[in-house]
Amino acid sequence: VSEMLVDSFGRMHTYLRMSLTERCNLRCQYCMPAEGVELTPNSKLLRQDEIIRLANIFVGAGVNKIRLTGGEPTIRPDIEDICLRLSSLKGLKTLAMTTNGLILTRKLPKLKECGLNSINISLDTLVPAKFEFMTRRKGQNKVMESINAAVDLGFRPVKVNCVVTRGVNDDEICDFVELTRDKPINVRFIEFMPFDGNVWSSKKLVPYVEMLDRVRQQFPSIKRQQDHPTDTAKNFMIDGHCGTVSFITSMTANFCAGCNRLRLLADGNFKVCLFGPSEVSLRDPLRAGIDDLGLQEIIGAAVKRKKAAHAGMFDIAKTSNRPMIHIGG
Ligand code: GTP
Ligand code: 5AD
Ligand code: SF4
Repeated sequence: VSEMLVDSFGRMHTYLRMSLTERCNLRCQYCMPAEGVELTPNSKLLRQDEIIRLANIFVGAGVNKIRLTGGEPTIRPDIEDICLRLSSLKGLKTLAMTTNGLILTRKLPKLKECGLNSINISLDTLVPAKFEFMTRRKGQNKVMESINAAVDLGFRPVKVNCVVTRGVNDDEICDFVELTRDKPINVRFIEFMPFDGNVWSSKKLVPYVEMLDRVRQQFPSIKRQQDHPTDTAKNFMIDGHCGTVSFITSMTANFCAGCNRLRLLADGNFKVCLFGPSEVSLRDPLRAGIDDLGLQEIIGAAVKRKKAAHAGMFDIAKTSNRPMIHIGG
């Protein structure tokens, strides 16, 4: 790994999350306000060639995993081409996507052919009417179909991201766990995190230990597995289940010490921490004609400014960041 990707705490950043669009075909309450968010004009969003040029620099320096996010990455018209070009970068091992799964059934076979080899699908409720309330759109059945399609196409494991909010979907935790009995999926319960415009409060957060207790009552054989040091999730298995269950505990037990993630946003801003408000534009120097060495210097300097950990949920909630839909998680 090149020096460019190592921060002042020795963390090696080999995982790049790239947001490909600020648009989405859902309107999730935890991700954006009802009125939507202001969109960056198209001329200021990274074009395909710029995405590939930047990805090439990161992969050349040692990034081996790229995750495509959004907004909703599948609605970008050139998503297949982007996957094809990224997957052919020498040194990239994992090309992953986090998607809401709404239009994935028809897109996934082609995406797989273009080199996508890992998929995380967001689904917060198994109840169609609740889905409509939470996302302000219909489509729960389509997401469920996508999860099944991903399993049928051989993605292993298919990760299902479930953001838990108290009083909304916390009564469904065990129903989600039940899905892992027969499906080779990894259901991941995510603590609700504060972002601009999502009306976060600690009352809506269901802490990891509470979620785990509830699962243990119904599934007493639940056992902790060994996690990878850079994993965002604490992983568990249950006797007789072919899938697994995990918890993403960003708020009550942060995993910043093992952080290996960097972010490139759709507008070309580079962000070294999900909750660090500081961003630096890579688009502007790129368009001004900078060479690769110059870009490497800007990236390396930003990585060196990365903090040891995020500031804690109450401080994060007070600091202005960006709405989740711009960052892509
Ligand atoms: P894998 O690569 O499959 O482990 O997925 P991931 O957890 O890295 O990414 P995903 O997009 O599926 O995100 C799942 C949840 O983890 C979302 O709520 C993200 O916001 C959160 N998450 C991802 N990366 C980070 C991070 O660096 N810090 C924090 N605090 N949360 C993160
Ligand atoms: N807190 C936690 N996770 C969130 N996600 C979106 N908004 C939030 C939030 N406020 C999740 C999405 C997706 C992933 C990228 O982040 O559901 O699965
Ligand atoms: Fe990494 Fe920042 Fe997430 Fe902590 S909050 S894991 S430092 S991105």
